[in-house]
Amino acid sequence: MENNEYFQRFGIVLNRKVVKTPIAIASMAGWVDANYVLARKAHVGVAFIGGYSIDEKTLEASHEMAKQGRKEFLCDDPLKELEDQSRLLEGSDVVTGINLRGSSEQSYQDITRYLGDRVIYEIDAHCRQEPMIRAGCGEYYLHHPDELARCIKALKSEDVTVSVKIRAGVHANDAVLAASLWKAGADIIHIDLMDFGYQKIRQIRNSCPLFIIANNSMHTFERVKEMFSHGADMVSLARKSDERTLGGLDAAISRYADEHGWYNSPKQLCRGGDLRALTFCCMPVKNCPLIPTLEKLGITREEYMAIKQEYVRGTPLSEGKQTCFGSLAWCCKDSSPCMFRDLSIRQAGLSNGEYMRKKREISDKLMHWLFYERAKDNVC
Ligand SMILES: Cc1cc2nc3c(=O)[nH]c(=O)nc-3n(C[C@H](O)[C@H](O)[C@H](O)COP(=O)(O)O)c2cc1C
Ligand code: SF4
Ligand code: SF4
Repeated sequence: MENNEYFQRFGIVLNRKVVKTPIAIASMAGWVDANYVLARKAHVGVAFIGGYSIDEKTLEASHEMAKQGRKEFLCDDPLKELEDQSRLLEGSDVVTGINLRGSSEQSYQDITRYLGDRVIYEIDAHCRQEPMIRAGCGEYYLHHPDELARCIKALKSEDVTVSVKIRAGVHANDAVLAASLWKAGADIIHIDLMDFGYQKIRQIRNSCPLFIIANNSMHTFERVKEMFSHGADMVSLARKSDERTLGGLDAAISRYADEHGWYNSPKQLCRGGDLRALTFCCMPVKNCPLIPTLEKLGITREEYMAIKQEYVRGTPLSEGKQTCFGSLAWCCKDSSPCMFRDLSIRQAGLSNGEYMRKKREISDKLMHWLFYERAKDNVC
């Protein structure tokens, strides 16, 4: 397939490159390098190689961890190693990220001088090994979010794409943390969910507009779909990043995307969906979860109606005289059976997949409005 076909299917661009499938390989120190990725490249869109320790303190920690029996990437010149590794991936269609352990903002900033904007820079705020925490990296950053924000800002001052890998449930409030990463300039939040379910993804989706990668045991399409329908943009796999698992997920996700048009469409709000589900909500005329959601967001019913009407104006979603509220703007997901909506979709000259893609466009605009055009502190 060509890039434009992948874009049509998933609509994902990271670090200025079209991503061919919303599946990533998550880093495993000592294991995930360029060759590991190349052996699995057919079914992954993004890969985070590493983690690589990039300064004296974190290199020392890596040596200590290796002595304790962990497999680590131990190289005398990590900058050269990272340059070589990223070059190996340059010709592939896998978007490259590098998972880095640095103990200061300067360490992160320095590395951009070698690699420029060719790669996504992922800060490892996840590692819970004692030597790494003592070095001032990994989970240390989740207890010192101001330092984490400074590292993000240092990277962003070099105009590169930044991901932050976190472990859920370490910071006292993951929603507050996510919003602070966004405000510091991060582009991606990569979350190891541990034992938390999709509710954690929804909480983070409702707190920031970051690109969300859900991680931990994403082995089945059911689990992946649960993450997608509550706000994840991508899933990642580490321990089970074998070809068979990756291939099976890629096939199932692609089939779903081709059939339904919007691969990570949210559940409707009344079924526990995240804020993107406002695109499927009716006019605010009955007592349902839309009303408290609007109240929590500080949006009046009139404002909500006006903004949706504005966004569908001139699009096929403004049609639909036979529907409950006279316009497809207020209609539900394609998975809720409704002959009036389906008839209107056909009359508007759309397929179900195209209808869902139009709903996605409205959802994107609504999220942009919520997070950028209105006061940012209002979100749930
Ligand atoms: C051997 C091993 C090494 C890991 N090294 C790193 C690392 O260097 N940086 C990082 O952010 N996460 C690291 N992780 C965490 C994984 O990326 C991932 O978050 C975790 O394994 C849960 O995802 P999974 O269920 O897909 O394996 C490592 C995990 C394993 C098992
Ligand atoms: S407005 Fe409609 S779709 Fe939205 S929560 Fe209420 S009943 Fe559900
Ligand atoms: S016409 Fe059907 S899809 Fe549209 S709002 Fe009414 S019940 Fe929902």
